[in-house]
Amino acid sequence: MAIISSKKQPQEPGKQPKKSRESAKKAQAENVLRPEARDDEQGKPEESIRPQRFADYIGQKDLKDVLEIAIKAAKSRQEVLDHLLLYGPPGLGKTTMAMILASEMEVNYKITSAPALERPRDIMGLLVNLKPGDILFIDEIHRLSRMTEEILYPAMEDYRLDITTGKGPSARTRSIPLSKFTLVGATTRVGALTSPLRDRFGLIQKLRFYEVDELSQIVLRTAQLLNTPVASDGATEIARRSRGTPRIANRLLKRVRDYAEVKSSGEINETVAGEALHLFQVDPCGLDWTDRRMLSVIIEQFNGGPVGLETIAAATGEDTQTIEEVYEPYLMQIGYLSRTPRGRVATPAAYQHLGFKPPNEQMSLL
Ligand code: ADE
Repeated sequence: MAIISSKKQPQEPGKQPKKSRESAKKAQAENVLRPEARDDEQGKPEESIRPQRFADYIGQKDLKDVLEIAIKAAKSRQEVLDHLLLYGPPGLGKTTMAMILASEMEVNYKITSAPALERPRDIMGLLVNLKPGDILFIDEIHRLSRMTEEILYPAMEDYRLDITTGKGPSARTRSIPLSKFTLVGATTRVGALTSPLRDRFGLIQKLRFYEVDELSQIVLRTAQLLNTPVASDGATEIARRSRGTPRIANRLLKRVRDYAEVKSSGEINETVAGEALHLFQVDPCGLDWTDRRMLSVIIEQFNGGPVGLETIAAATGEDTQTIEEVYEPYLMQIGYLSRTPRGRVATPAAYQHLGFKPPNEQMSLL
């Protein structure tokens, strides 16, 4: 006889309630698939796998071509490189590119990020200490405070630091000359930059998602540096699930390496990579819980869309900014989501991937 009770049932040993099992899955996949750098990914070991020169850097061919020309021209004129703005989703190599620029130009670099430049004296201190030709890299440059930004304008344009003392009619401005330097700004939100700041960059370049074959080569390169045996089909399997992002590919490689060492001979092939990534809840296209939830909400609750961003944020528990900057670019890149003026729409390919039947009028688009 079934006992129906409104009280919470005692939990069977080893079985979690559905909701917390779901959130555990969500947490696990997000842990490995989030493109932002984690704290443990910023130390020495990471530096040892970062490419140091253009010759070691795989992918972003158009960007490399543009930068190599700019470097050659600047070197032959014995000038500093123009200020450069790099934009694109996180994890694609904006910091790496700035470091490579410094080694190719044979100059020093300083790395900071906009949230660390809260007070005017933070940026002033950095600027006055730059040597001729140095590269100053500012990450998340769209988050600069207005005051910091205004200090940067004459610094970028005329290599000059204007210091104002006093207030009102007794205010005095003094100018200090700075060394000629190159500012490399990085942002995931180029549209959030003010136009005076954007206009001061001589070069504005986008980083795009990587192709599977490029990511495969990156996995093979990193595996060699880590002394990990990887077959080419194993590298491809990791690459397919890496959301077009080298940082994720290298992170998945390390998780698969652990699995291969514990559960098999240590060599990573397609089967071992597939098993390991299944364990980490990484789906064959690299989608995580939030991607799948976003798409299934659009499909199941809104007939495929269009649906507003706020609704998707409420259904997934993510903030709108993370959805716009992290989730949507990849889903659009692989053709699972489109953005229309009336909201987000799931494509027939998304229906198919999640095992839903596309509506009749969309079948012809498959
Ligand atoms: N590691 C991370 N990104 C890379 C790239 N673009 N090329 C080579 N190795 C990398």
